[in-house]
Amino acid sequence: MTTAMSRAATDLSPEQAAARERIYAAPLETLDPAKPERFPTGEWQWVFERLRAEDPVHLTAEEHSEFGRYWSLTKWEDIQAADTNHELFSADGLITLQRPQTPEQAAAAFNDGTMTEEEMRRRQEAGIRSLLSMDPPDHEIHRGAVAEGVAPANLAAMEPLIRERAGAILDGLPIGEEFDWVDKVSIELTAMTLATLFDYPQEKRRQLTYWSNVITSPAGPGQPAETQEEHDQAVREFFMTMSDMVNRRRSEEPRLDFVSLMAHSPHSTNFTDAELFGDSVVLLVGGNDTTRNTITGSVYLLDKHPEENAKLRANPKLIPSMVSETIRWQTPLTHMARRTTRDVEIKGKVIPKGDRVVMWYVSGNRDEAKVVDANSWIVDRKNPRQHLSFGFGIHRCLGNKVAELQLRIIWEEILKRFPEIKVVGEPERHSDHFIKGYEKLTVVIPRRN
Ligand code: HEM
Repeated sequence: MTTAMSRAATDLSPEQAAARERIYAAPLETLDPAKPERFPTGEWQWVFERLRAEDPVHLTAEEHSEFGRYWSLTKWEDIQAADTNHELFSADGLITLQRPQTPEQAAAAFNDGTMTEEEMRRRQEAGIRSLLSMDPPDHEIHRGAVAEGVAPANLAAMEPLIRERAGAILDGLPIGEEFDWVDKVSIELTAMTLATLFDYPQEKRRQLTYWSNVITSPAGPGQPAETQEEHDQAVREFFMTMSDMVNRRRSEEPRLDFVSLMAHSPHSTNFTDAELFGDSVVLLVGGNDTTRNTITGSVYLLDKHPEENAKLRANPKLIPSMVSETIRWQTPLTHMARRTTRDVEIKGKVIPKGDRVVMWYVSGNRDEAKVVDANSWIVDRKNPRQHLSFGFGIHRCLGNKVAELQLRIIWEEILKRFPEIKVVGEPERHSDHFIKGYEKLTVVIPRRN
């Protein structure tokens, strides 16, 4: 065991130590790293720690998983190799590891009477088709349509606006009383940026957040949509709003927001409604939870690590490095899924053609073979941008610069204003195997005398 692993293992609370022991005692073949409940508790760390050491290319058989049969890649080098080989690892029709639906559900959702069983299975798993679930050549066309929206020139133009908004949000925070950082800061800033990127009315920005939350969560009590009906209604609403906006932009002068870019793409008339919707969903969700959860994560981590906090406050030039380190540590999207186009051998295991392969970024980011002291959060880490959180290859995150920009600006503005942000208790964490983040983080900004 490496030094960092031993330290991580000895720093555990009694509950965590018991959880880790259970994970190590379980027969290897029964391990299902995708269990959603492992993420809020932190148990995911021990599952991946064990898999990296004992079974880095791991098969979870159908009987051990609510997600059906799938393979897990857990080492940095294998994840990177798969992510950069789109010919062997196809994204077609697949983004995340989804639960299989019953044949009746699939039929009700997709069967228009003309589909073969294979087509139905693929569409059922895909849910929607978007740039993130396409291979070349379609992928290049769909990504190319919207890429200018987050090109350096456009981001440079947005920077003063984001700074002004970040300042206004921070100046409006209560001092000396508890409040929820997620709602008042993380969601607020990212919703404003998203509304700008879509050129959507600012006063309705929380609708974007609501739609994104609904789309990424199942319906049910305590969820953004309490019933399936509410869920389907919200999805329909987002779809109608996007279609309307695209149609209206077609008759307006081209601009650099995502909707206008889609409307004026030379390929736009070939995009199906479902594809326009899919692309909009990826842009919406991509711009929402990920950056929001990194902002929240950075506040939490600085509170938990006073020595790192002191380093940052003594040297604000460390902000970009702290931001990248938090993106690695947090890994806001735990994984992406692909399907093999041929039999593939990795580390002596043969993954048959057509099987699902999950690239666990959240595990690769803690791989000691690649990241020194991977279980530590270090604001002045060497090579902080060396992480897997944005993926690699042709699907590498399109919005990575706009995410980093928002994080850098909010921290530059925080350091100008608040010498301390105290976290109260533990955050409420999101229970999901894909989006790793926070529902609520209670904080206090102490009153200054
Ligand atoms: C810290 C923040 C973010 C993280 C960790 C993140 C993570 C990711 C990951 C892991 C992928 C897939 C990479 C792959 O399959 O190789 C991705 C793709 C994507 N992201 Fe992000 N993202 C973030 C912020 C954003 C933002 C702010 C936007 C847009 C405003 C965005 C838009 C997209 C889009 C459009 C894609 C699909 C790219 C493609 O398929 O070519 N992301 N992101």
